Amino acid sequence: MKKVTNLKPVTGKLGILVVGCGAVSTTFMTGVLMVRKGLAKPIGSMTQYDKIRVGKGPDKKYLHYGDIVPLVRLDDIVFGTWDVYPQNAYQAAVYAEVLKAKDIEPVRDELEKIVPMKAAFDKNYAKRIDGDNVKDCKSRWEMVEALKADIRTFKEKNNCSRIVVIWAASTEIYVPYDEDVHGSLESLEQAMKADDREHVAPSMCYAYAALTEGAPFIMGAPNTTVDIPAMWELAEKVKMPIAGKDFKTGQTLVKSGFAPILKVRNLGLNGWFSTNILGNRDGLVLDEPANFRTKEVSKLSTLETILKKDDQPDLYGHIYHKVRINYYPPRNDNKEGWDNIDIFGWMGYPMQIKINFLCRDSILAAPLLLDLTLLMDLAARDGRYGIQRFLGFFFKSPMHDFTKGEDAVNNLFDQYVMLKNAIREMGGYDPDEEID
Ligand SMILES: NC(=O)c1ccc[n+]([C@@H]2O[C@H](COP(=O)([O-])OP(=O)(O)OC[C@H]3O[C@@H](n4cnc5c(N)ncnc54)[C@H](O)[C@@H]3O)[C@@H](O)[C@H]2O)c1
Repeated sequence: MKKVTNLKPVTGKLGILVVGCGAVSTTFMTGVLMVRKGLAKPIGSMTQYDKIRVGKGPDKKYLHYGDIVPLVRLDDIVFGTWDVYPQNAYQAAVYAEVLKAKDIEPVRDELEKIVPMKAAFDKNYAKRIDGDNVKDCKSRWEMVEALKADIRTFKEKNNCSRIVVIWAASTEIYVPYDEDVHGSLESLEQAMKADDREHVAPSMCYAYAALTEGAPFIMGAPNTTVDIPAMWELAEKVKMPIAGKDFKTGQTLVKSGFAPILKVRNLGLNGWFSTNILGNRDGLVLDEPANFRTKEVSKLSTLETILKKDDQPDLYGHIYHKVRINYYPPRNDNKEGWDNIDIFGWMGYPMQIKINFLCRDSILAAPLLLDLTLLMDLAARDGRYGIQRFLGFFFKSPMHDFTKGEDAVNNLFDQYVMLKNAIREMGGYDPDEEID
């Protein structure tokens, strides 16, 4: 039986503000505009394709997400962006070389109108990025105020009823959690006002501005940004949802889907070596050791929460897990990933598994941006705030309260159950533990 819920209906336009107008964001925006015209299909998008079972026994039926909960129609989306480079979304899409001209030209007019607002940027956070479309701010606090003004102006100008902000900009250098600055909202605000550039990344200014303007914030890179108690406190205060971090697209998707095979068959693991070659601008930024460190921390966290050494010391007590990304321009966005997995079976006899994924980074990422923005808008309309654990399915390093010893859920199939149950609950159906 469907219960009555407090979920607000979907009315008016949704403004999607994407931080970064690079390969991922232009592939996302172009795809949505092409789908709107009936010229492409949103393959890989859960909200557009997946079906969830509701009810059990003779009452069971399989429904699309949009038939369970009201979701924004693609026609009601308006895009905006910020970038360090001034090129509009059409020029940026052509530069990225992800999509062929035939898949960009039909929506050229619409893309040309998406012109990046000036970025809140600090070169120390991404040394290899070198554009001049940057805000001139004297402090981090000024950055926040300028971004808040951008969000307000965009919302008014485009007649949007709601805004969602999503980060698809370059990975920043690793900012380790520092309790004195990141431990409370008050200390973070003080650090912003004191212009503490070491502890306050530009991405934190975007998140702070979004949340205080009443917009959910999604972190698609592995940046520390909203993964700190100060931001959880802010999200609770303003009653806005936050989600992150690091889109789970290629190699880590495979890892979080494959590791459960070893777990359920009780096979042992000695080592897992993951390496990649990638030649786009993301690869260039990640070639800088301080930026790669952020990615490495995010990518490494997946295995240990699925194959737990304390639960099964014989099987997972000594895993050697290594992740590498190598910048190799000839491949551009067509990343190639290799996984070498050293497993062992009966009486400890070793075996190997090799996985070679010839993927397209931005093609895998684009549907995640669509799903995450639509589902965060849904969560906000449902009155959900703080960390959105049900969206862990989409992230390499799902946010969790590490100050209370909470473990992240990384097993793809556990994450899928969490995702579906949240949709069921928001739609007024009972949650359950079945995988379909
Ligand atoms: N494609 C994937 O599969 C995938 C998966 C997980 C995470 N990501 C992350 O998504 C992000 C985007 O990837 P991409 O391939 O589009 O990279 P990209 O280099 O093509 O685009 C990033 C853009 O962000 C801009 N930028 C940097 N700092 C900024 C700031 N402070 N404000 C505004 N703009 C800023 C850059 O100028 C650049 O145009 C990266 O952080 C990447 O690690 C991608």
